Amino acid sequence: MNKIKKIISKKNKTKIVSLTAYSKNVASILDNYCDLILVGDSLGSVLYNYKSTREVTLNTIIKHSKSVRMGIKKSLMIVDMPYNTYRTPKEALKNAKQIMKKTKCDGVKLEGGKKNYKTIKTLVKNKIPVMGHLGLLPQSDKTFKFKGKKKLERDSILRDSQLLEKAGVFSIVLECIETSLAKLVSQNITVPTIGIGASKYCDGQILVFDDLIGLNPMNYKFVKKYANIRKYISKAVFNYSREVRKIKFPSKKNSF
Ligand code: KIV
Repeated sequence: MNKIKKIISKKNKTKIVSLTAYSKNVASILDNYCDLILVGDSLGSVLYNYKSTREVTLNTIIKHSKSVRMGIKKSLMIVDMPYNTYRTPKEALKNAKQIMKKTKCDGVKLEGGKKNYKTIKTLVKNKIPVMGHLGLLPQSDKTFKFKGKKKLERDSILRDSQLLEKAGVFSIVLECIETSLAKLVSQNITVPTIGIGASKYCDGQILVFDDLIGLNPMNYKFVKKYANIRKYISKAVFNYSREVRKIKFPSKKNSF
């Protein structure tokens, strides 16, 4: 836990920088700039074209996490617990232990509030650092609309954040929630909040890496594309295909 507190704390003057990674090469680049790298179950839609993150299995997340581990030297590495792997404290403990042991990650993340209270307490008691996740919860959400418009919803997210803190999480991801609610939650708990579509008032930010570099052709309101990597890849592949067809590649230089 000390390593975690050293790297991400509310007391830090600068915001916490986090991104997702699903493989070694990407992780090794992100490691130079990020405080925290998440092996998110978003890999289900990003890599496997699954309709929902619910299809991601424990084996799949462990396989990708092992690859990511090889690329990280200094950042925290957190792994998402897939759907149906933490329905009871006992099930969560067994699966979280497996994730920690096989991937050598620094902690796990799981979605939801009140219903996970006992589970989180159990994991923390067993020395497994836990990151919470509130707001839009992709494993269970039906509408995929931002949260925090209605009073009932706002109260429940605020209450859940305080419960998660009490249960012992080291941080909470806030996904797609209204700005003033993100501010209120961030000001009312002592653990850092990491936002995705949750305003500048969170203690840090996270994005899906493929969205940030523009590899994902979709546009989302909460994403800023910092590169148009599809353009660069297209250019490189176009040049390669032209040279292969014109028998310019491989040249002497590339031959034995
Ligand atoms: O699965 C994921 O990538 C996530 C982030 C979007 C926070 O949970």
